[in-house]
Amino acid sequence: MTIRVSLPASDDTDAWRDAARALVLAGVEPDDVTWDEPALAAPDLFADAATPIPPPRPDAPAVRASKAFLSLMRMALLHREPARFDLAYRLLWRLQERPRAAEDAADPLVRRLDHLARPVRRDIHKMRAFVRFRSVIEPDGEERYVAWFEPEHHILRANAGFFVRRFASMHWSILTPQGTLHWDGISVQEGPPATRLDAPAGDPLEDLWRTYYASIFNPARLKVGAMLKEMPRKYWKNMPEAALIPDLIAGAQAREAAMVEVGASADFGAPPETLAALAGGIDACRACAIGCNGTRAVAGEGAGEGAAFMIVGEQPGDNEERESRPFVGPAGQVLRAHLSRAGIDPARGWLTNAVKHFKHQPTGKRRLHQTPTAGEIDHCRWWLDRERDLVRPRHILALGASAARGLLGRTASVQRERGLVAEQDGAEVWLTCHPSYLLRLDGPAREAEEARFIADLAAFSQRIG
Ligand code: URA
Repeated sequence: MTIRVSLPASDDTDAWRDAARALVLAGVEPDDVTWDEPALAAPDLFADAATPIPPPRPDAPAVRASKAFLSLMRMALLHREPARFDLAYRLLWRLQERPRAAEDAADPLVRRLDHLARPVRRDIHKMRAFVRFRSVIEPDGEERYVAWFEPEHHILRANAGFFVRRFASMHWSILTPQGTLHWDGISVQEGPPATRLDAPAGDPLEDLWRTYYASIFNPARLKVGAMLKEMPRKYWKNMPEAALIPDLIAGAQAREAAMVEVGASADFGAPPETLAALAGGIDACRACAIGCNGTRAVAGEGAGEGAAFMIVGEQPGDNEERESRPFVGPAGQVLRAHLSRAGIDPARGWLTNAVKHFKHQPTGKRRLHQTPTAGEIDHCRWWLDRERDLVRPRHILALGASAARGLLGRTASVQRERGLVAEQDGAEVWLTCHPSYLLRLDGPAREAEEARFIADLAAFSQRIG
């Protein structure tokens, strides 16, 4: 008998997983299953056609699903290809006999699923990079930022957490032909599909975007083919800065000679699944000039996934780069001494930096620290966000303005905002000064700032318990 599984939504990977587990436990072979997803135009079309899944066989062993399988599925199931559910179930079925089957990259089934997963990852990345919000004033006088985007795959819900984290303090809506997301600072509401006409056409913010884009446009990186691949023309119509591209390209050749070639693409690839993979990823990252300066990236250290708290500095310094450990130089020693005084054991938390490589100016034998630009911090934020996803700290302490920018995505004033500055995705973000700031002061100014630093750490310590 054929079992017909009707999934409630095209992106409902949880529903697929539950059904697939039940089918394996019931011993239903892949050839005996048909998977339906709701057609956009007629969501209830298949509702009556579903057949109940038989109960588990009494002797059924636990379902086996390797990490490699789960990570492949998470992406492949969001593809528009209707056969994806069937292919995924065939691989899950195979896993019950060969638990490592998903790791066999040469296997035709694994390859097919991988070919589905890749464009989904790209689509997720493109949405993160190319959504452009336009400001509208709502009837109640509130400002809301609205964006229009046309995803190729079922990635809208999968991307919601990213936009909530990044734009936590704004009210925003993302409209797509597949559905809409609306954030009011507290929760995300889902709405029906929209059309481009529902989205505003432009606003004064666009001038800001254009100015920003022109200032970060790097002619040395201009490869028109690569640029079109990274920023396909279909997204240009939603991007105010795209109007500048023809002129910027025209002027680029002349400026190119004066600039240093840096990484050609900021496609960070698939999110790392472990902190070890993240450490490898940051070391290999060439997405900005700092990543290309020949230094080794410095990974975070501490209790790892599930750590009680996270402390974020600006970037590794000379000593940190040599020893491949964060906070081991002079500023790190000041920090560690004060943490200990405040009763904060760094081994219970996770120490890391907003920027992963050491930006410096070589002068003779010494390498002089250089402050990263906002653009460089913003580039590295992709890694910091992934690190937060993996460590999942409930309390985060930003040391100084660069760390605050990496965490909050905006410029913050330490003097005006120190203390608890934001709640993001269930985590509190706290702000205090960077210990290197204390090292640059002396006399009464140093005493006063040190006292404030001690008070901030005491408050943070009390919070983390
Ligand atoms: N300063 C930082 O911000 N991070 C380090 O790891 C060392 C010094």
